[in-house]
Amino acid sequence: MAHSVLVAGATGMLGSKIAHALLEKNVEVMVLTRSLHPSSPKSAQHLAQLQSRGAQVVEGDLNNMESLLKATEGAPAVISAVQGEFDIIVQGQQNLLRAAEKNGVRRFVPSDFSMNYFKLAEGDNDNSDIRRQFAELLKASPVAHTFILNGAFTEVEVSPWGGLIDQENSTFSYWGDGETSFDITTINDTARYTAEAVLDPVLANQVFEVAGDVLTMKEFLAIYQETTGRHLTERRLGSVQELKDWIEQKKRTASSPHEYLGQQYHYALVSGKGKLDNLQNDRYPYIQPLTLKQFLEGFR
Ligand SMILES: NC(=O)c1ccc[n+]([C@@H]2O[C@H](COP(=O)([O-])OP(=O)(O)OC[C@H]3O[C@@H](n4cnc5c(N)ncnc54)[C@H](OP(=O)(O)O)[C@@H]3O)[C@@H](O)[C@H]2O)c1
Repeated sequence: MAHSVLVAGATGMLGSKIAHALLEKNVEVMVLTRSLHPSSPKSAQHLAQLQSRGAQVVEGDLNNMESLLKATEGAPAVISAVQGEFDIIVQGQQNLLRAAEKNGVRRFVPSDFSMNYFKLAEGDNDNSDIRRQFAELLKASPVAHTFILNGAFTEVEVSPWGGLIDQENSTFSYWGDGETSFDITTINDTARYTAEAVLDPVLANQVFEVAGDVLTMKEFLAIYQETTGRHLTERRLGSVQELKDWIEQKKRTASSPHEYLGQQYHYALVSGKGKLDNLQNDRYPYIQPLTLKQFLEGFR
C-alpha cells in the first residue's frame, strides 16, 4: 500500500470534501469505500471524482477487520468522516483504530466535526454521547489524536434540517433568548482545516477548534434578512429549559432518536453548552473561512 492518508467516509458529504482538500495540498489519498461500485449515485459520483483526481481506492468496511488492516498499511494518518450510530462510531471506529495501531499509523482524526461535545452532559445529545465514548478509547491509544471541532455546518443551519428557517411560512424559529453566541463553519472550510490539521505535528493529541462565524440567533436572522432581502418573522419557541424539557419528554415516546436529534443540536447551540472557547483559525492564516454573510452571498 502507498503512503497515503486514509480517509474513511470519503463517499460522504464531508469526507469527500476532506479527500479533495488533501489532494489540493498534493497529499496522497487512499479512500476507504464499502463498495467499489456504490449503489447511491451521489457516493458513486464522489468516488469517481476522487479517483479521477488521483485518489487510490480500497474496499473495506468498519466492521471488517481484515479489510481495515489492509487499508491502514503504510498510512501515516487516518481521517474518519463516517456517520452512524454506536456500531459505526464506537465499534467501527474502534476497529479502524486497532488496525491503525497494528500498522503504526501516527495520527487519527475521529468523526467529530461538531460543537464542543466534551462540554455536554451525558444525555444532552445522543450523537455526542457515542463520540465521547470513542474519544476515551482514542485518548488511551498510542496513536496520536486530533479532535476537530467546527460548531454547526453553515449549510445545515440554513437548510430545513437546521430547523431555523421555514421558507414556506417565512419564519425564523429558535429557543432561548436569541442572545447566546454559537459557532458555524461551512463544510468546505471544515474540510480544508482538517487537511491541514491531520499532518500538523503541533496538533498531535490536541483539540483543534475553528469557526467561520460566531453569532447569536438574533444576529443570524439580521444577517440572513439583510443579505437575502427576505423578511422572516421571528418566532421564539420558549426558554432553553423548556427546550430541554421538550427533548426529555420526546425521548420517552420517540420510536427513533431522529425525532429529537435536531433539537438536541439546537440545545447545544442556544444553551451555550457546546460553544467553542479556543478558536484557532489563525493557525492557518491562508484559510479565510466564510462568514454567514459571505456564504449567503454565494461564496463557496
Ligand atoms: N457540525 C455539523 O453541523 C454536522 C452536520 C452533518 C454532519 N456532521 C458530522 O460530519 C461527519 C460526517 O457526516 P456526513 O453527513 O458527511 O456523513 P454521510 O454523508 O452520511 O457519509 C457517511 C460516510 O460514512 C461511510 N460509512 C458508513 N458506515 C460505514 C462502514 N460500516 N464502513 C465504512 N464506511 C462507512 C459511508 O459510506 P457509504 O458510501 O458506503 O455509505 C459514507 O461515506 C459525522 O461525524 C457527522 O456527525 C456534522
